[in-house]
Amino acid sequence: MKQKTIYTCQQCGYQSPKWLGKCPDCGQWNTLTEELRSVSAGTKRPASLAAPVQRIAEVAADEEDRCRSGIGEFDRVLGGGDVPGSLVLIGGDPGIGKSTLLLQAANRLAASGTVLYVTAEESARQIKLRGARLGVEAKALFICAETSLEAILERVEELKPRFLVVDSIQTIFTDLLESAPGSVAQVRECAGRLMQLAKGQGVSTFIAGHVTKGGAIAGPRMLEHMVDTVLYFEGDAGHPYRILRAVKNRFGSTNEIGVFEMQERGLVEVSNPSELFLAERPEASAGSVVVPSLEGSRPILVELQALVSSTSFGTPRRTAIGLDHNRVSLLVAVLEKKLALPLTAQDIFLNVAGGVRIDEPAVDLGVVAALVSSHLNRPISAGLILFGEVGLTGEVRAVSRPELRVMEAARLGFQCCCMPAGNLKNLEAPPGLQLFGVTNVQQVLERIFD
Ligand code: TYD
Ligand code: MG
Repeated sequence: MKQKTIYTCQQCGYQSPKWLGKCPDCGQWNTLTEELRSVSAGTKRPASLAAPVQRIAEVAADEEDRCRSGIGEFDRVLGGGDVPGSLVLIGGDPGIGKSTLLLQAANRLAASGTVLYVTAEESARQIKLRGARLGVEAKALFICAETSLEAILERVEELKPRFLVVDSIQTIFTDLLESAPGSVAQVRECAGRLMQLAKGQGVSTFIAGHVTKGGAIAGPRMLEHMVDTVLYFEGDAGHPYRILRAVKNRFGSTNEIGVFEMQERGLVEVSNPSELFLAERPEASAGSVVVPSLEGSRPILVELQALVSSTSFGTPRRTAIGLDHNRVSLLVAVLEKKLALPLTAQDIFLNVAGGVRIDEPAVDLGVVAALVSSHLNRPISAGLILFGEVGLTGEVRAVSRPELRVMEAARLGFQCCCMPAGNLKNLEAPPGLQLFGVTNVQQVLERIFD
């Protein structure tokens, strides 16, 4: 074994054999720190282990070997179940419920094969107590409280599980590196070795990772590049709803979401999120409007709320929770310019009810309607729903998959849908729902406040 010194950027993971003041990769200053790495001599792979060259037609790949956990929302986000040998990262704020989700999923997956749950944060006893509350009792579920990667790999070698859960990547470490657990180098090395395990032995591996305040998986962005699937578990601490969102998926579509509710007995699937998000909706209140937002392949109706009130300070406040801030500023500017609404001296607050986050331009029309409704203090009819993208000249643009959105609106009993005229082509109105096509924001407002 010989020792080698290497300098690693703590921001992006860039490595250099000598110290540098500025990272050439991400441009951050003073982020390179020294790390020792022992390199054992002769670790070259024998040629016999090299991958063969095959015709693509001859590569065996059965779509059907996916393994479903039976937790519908979880399977959906994975793209229809777990693919053997996949490496899945579940990121989220501390305390959001990653361990709870993984334990519940492990319990269900144990029906299809041995599961090893490695807990590097809590003791086996703590997991047992939590598991008792969650009804975890699968015979094929094994727990191991271990933080050393080498020891974990040894346990895997002995047990030969079909699934491996590592909770969390920031608390395990490899002896090969001197740096502390959670540092970029450790996280990368551990994830790399787990990837070799997943790919080499076909062990499906789920790793939990904490997210920093900025929203990135703590330390390394590159962790996201290494794994097959990145799921974010998000939600508002004040709300019981949790959303599992696929932001990267080599085995399925991204933007697919699963909705859960955190209850006393753990996470419960919500298979009808629209009903849940609209349950507490105030009827006939100014500033409240419903929009059909599309999350992956699934339409979800959410309530948008706006509050426009005269500002008491020099600079008006603009607060948007659950929506993109810049997008809201843009829409406010369009309303000021195109509809001559005097919003300059108004505080504006926007909120998506239930702690959901929507990142889709299709909600633009809803934002516009909610703002105007609050400003004029005129409620929007409870049976009306609207969607469409708004451009800078006030035009309403077509959005993707209108048929899914109107179907969901009809299913929940809405009577009237205001939508982009460009989306009306080849679209059949579902029973009970009237469709109105609009081409600019003026028309929308005439339609909804007549
Ligand atoms: P946890 O899974 O430990 O979060 P993470 O692993 O992401 O840090 O979840 C902890 C939170 O979940 C904690 O605030 C309590 C809550 N919780 C429930 O409300 N009900 C339950 O049955 C469980 C297990 C946790
Ligand atoms: Mg945890």
